Amino acid sequence: MSNETVNAGRRRFLTTATSAVGVAGVVGIAVPFVGSWNPSAKAEAAGAPVKADISKLEPGQMVVVEWRGKPVYVLRRTEEQLEGLTTLDEKLKDPNSEISEQPANVTGPTRSIKPEVMVFVGLCTHLGCAPKFRPELGADANVGDDTWIGGFFCPCHGSRFDLAGRVYSGVPASTNLVVPPYSYEDEITLVIGVGEEAA
Ligand code: FES
Repeated sequence: MSNETVNAGRRRFLTTATSAVGVAGVVGIAVPFVGSWNPSAKAEAAGAPVKADISKLEPGQMVVVEWRGKPVYVLRRTEEQLEGLTTLDEKLKDPNSEISEQPANVTGPTRSIKPEVMVFVGLCTHLGCAPKFRPELGADANVGDDTWIGGFFCPCHGSRFDLAGRVYSGVPASTNLVVPPYSYEDEITLVIGVGEEAA
């Protein structure tokens, strides 16, 4: 993937907050990173599932959906990014998610129901900071890994995760990013909070 493509992807990085009722569109305000995440008290209190329309989420784009006061990252991975997930096992602490909790219906290196759509809680499993989306390649990603093929970087203590939320070896976080229970109401409507619980 060229830098131009990657940068275009970063510019399309979107965020949105949903309410507990209705369907939230994912076309929102462009933000440079999710460090500005600020859950509302209303959402904090709401335990209800949230829905998100992902029909406009393009390959390489990510949005943030608020669920139970937490940021849930929803990423539509490109074909290239999916292929990259199969090359990382030796660099990861728990490539098959054997020690990391995730819903029973989420398996394999993609850790998702639809291979291309990744859904996970955007809180670092070390001490809870918000990992930053770093889809750039190699040194351009500024994560201290010249072989980097895109993923998430936690700015607090340097934990790194791949584009399936799997944690790299040699970083403070010890488990993969958490996949919440989720399901699809139809082809384009993601429901976060309804689905199989972690196994
Ligand atoms: S909170 Fe993410 S590395 Fe410490």
